Amino acid sequence: MVMLVAGVFCLLTSPSIGELPRFEHHAKPEESLNVLVLGDWGRKGTHNQSFVAHQMGIVGEKLNIDFVISTGDNFYEDGLKGVDDPAFYESFVDIYTAPSLQKTWYSVLGNHDYRGDVEAQLSPVLRQKDSRWLCLRSFILNGEIVEFFFVDTTPFVEEYFTDPKEHTYDWDGVLPRATYLSELLKDVDSALVESKAKWKMVVGHHTINSAGHHGNTEDLKQLLVPILEANNVDAYINGHDHCLQHIIDKNSGIHFLTSGGGSKAWSSDVKPWNLEELKLYYDGQGFMSMQITKSNVDIVFYDVYGNTLHTWSISKDRNVAAWI
Ligand SMILES: *[C@@H]1O[C@H](CO)[C@@H](O)[C@H](O)[C@H]1NC(C)=O
Repeated sequence: MVMLVAGVFCLLTSPSIGELPRFEHHAKPEESLNVLVLGDWGRKGTHNQSFVAHQMGIVGEKLNIDFVISTGDNFYEDGLKGVDDPAFYESFVDIYTAPSLQKTWYSVLGNHDYRGDVEAQLSPVLRQKDSRWLCLRSFILNGEIVEFFFVDTTPFVEEYFTDPKEHTYDWDGVLPRATYLSELLKDVDSALVESKAKWKMVVGHHTINSAGHHGNTEDLKQLLVPILEANNVDAYINGHDHCLQHIIDKNSGIHFLTSGGGSKAWSSDVKPWNLEELKLYYDGQGFMSMQITKSNVDIVFYDVYGNTLHTWSISKDRNVAAWI
């Protein structure tokens, strides 16, 4: 019975039953794959959004980026009202105007996006307005040396269903929730098991480990983390907390990278965290870059002026790993 319902659901949302939609990005030969990561941004340029955008343009050019990843909460306060909502221009098209940012923006939805018309944000009509825009609930991006698994995390958060407060969420396509989550987890797990990529990174809107305002998302810790650990995922990349943050889980070694500084930041809103794990916590605006090669992932966090706040190099050299 569960299988049957799940099968019907997948027919509606992805090209083949039980599989997440896939996209390919061919890495430049003998070069690194370079990416910018931004989250929690669409505020019509306010709250330093335009300044962050300007610096992204400069760093994007320097790194000759391949694409941009958006960790969600793309349009504040309540997503898009429809495909013709002018916020798509005011918060995206007319803000990220630098030539280097004219690449695909692979985007997931955040909880604020779920407060609007979700189908509008997923609609190909937006791609016609600006060909950079690519937003799906969950999907896979194969960049050869790296594979990104984008996961729709908002439906994991039980509180949005049981205690939505004054908000209305657009759960069309998500209900029944238990089926949606179990199918999604199964698909993510099997895609990770099958992945032959050197690097495996999972992208979602919500935090898993975070010293920020929202803190950890327990629902994801229970349901998603076992899958990340079993499949030796290298990094989990998220937004949701409006900060820049790098935590290395001391048990699993997974890097938890928060890039949620696209506009409004929450100054001084930080909880205590084990300093052996917490490599960066920055409570202002900014973004992150990743330069990915077969042997290394070099991570850099930038503030609103483009200053480097933190760098880290993750190595995939087996000898180095064994030696550590
Ligand atoms: C913009 O960024 C600067 C530098 O981090 C900060 O001092 C200022 O408060 C920010 N402005 C807003 C509106 O967040």
